[in-house]
Amino acid sequence: MGNLLAGKKGIISGALNSESIAWKVAERCVEEGAQIVLTNAPVAMRMGEINSLAEKCNAPVIGADATSLEDLEKLFNSSMEHFGGKFDFVLHSIGMSVNVRKGKAYTDLNYDWMQKTYDVSAVSFHKMMQTMWKLDAVNDWGSIVGLSYIAAQRVFPDYSEMAESKALLESIARSFGYHYGTAKKVRVNTISQSPTMTTAGQGIKGFMDFFNYADKMSPLGNASAEGCANYCVMLFSDLSRYVTMQNLYHDGGFSSMGMSPALIEQ
Ligand SMILES: NC(=O)c1ccc[n+]([C@@H]2O[C@H](COP(=O)([O-])OP(=O)(O)OC[C@H]3O[C@@H](n4cnc5c(N)ncnc54)[C@H](O)[C@@H]3O)[C@@H](O)[C@H]2O)c1
Repeated sequence: MGNLLAGKKGIISGALNSESIAWKVAERCVEEGAQIVLTNAPVAMRMGEINSLAEKCNAPVIGADATSLEDLEKLFNSSMEHFGGKFDFVLHSIGMSVNVRKGKAYTDLNYDWMQKTYDVSAVSFHKMMQTMWKLDAVNDWGSIVGLSYIAAQRVFPDYSEMAESKALLESIARSFGYHYGTAKKVRVNTISQSPTMTTAGQGIKGFMDFFNYADKMSPLGNASAEGCANYCVMLFSDLSRYVTMQNLYHDGGFSSMGMSPALIEQ
């Protein structure tokens, strides 16, 4: 389609199936001229769907549990071997709540599970960046993006402990963004995306209700996964070189709304 990412190399995590936001990001990055490596947890890779994306994108798939420092080190080293050097962009598109999955109420959380949720959904972002930092794996003026949700700022009761995970994710983006910015001119941002029909999204109780609610509340309607992929391309491209340490709403205007006549009528 274009060449916004011509000559750039990047790593895309989290493409589970064709609904995944990361799946669309991978496709768009390649359309814009990037070379990519795909990664996901070994258990997700066993489902096999990622192989068709890999073929389409002419990309290797390197398994890595994003909570394992050993796996991450292998991922980044193998990626540098594949690219023949450092890379320019990284997408963290990973989230999972154990308590939500097991149907535990927010007022009755299992704290061991909560720790696991934080590790998978937020600390893994730090682990990725710390590992890349130590390996000096990212080119100067590189771009790192994580995906967040507005439950980090406002209450969405069924989002449960994922709200705290996203608040932590956004904070890690700011804190690491400082270090990566001053040392390497690498930028770190999160995109706060509209509710999106994916496996992770639909795991939240009452998802369809709040999908429809957000759609009505947002002047532009919910932002799609394809729209999110375009926004990622822009953030990976040289057109956004001075944007860092931000949580960027990609939500059709939802985050600025107070009241919607369309919803009141309904
Ligand atoms: N779907 C939504 O409504 C929505 C809205 C805002 C933000 N997000 C965020 O977008 C990101 C991507 O989610 P999605 O909606 O595309 O769903 P998805 O289910 O397609 O993607 C989640 C991915 O996380 C991966 N994952 C889980 N545990 C992992 C681990 N230990 N190591 C490596 N990978 C692991 C899964 O295999 C999967 O590919 C998540 O951070 C999610 O919270 C989603």
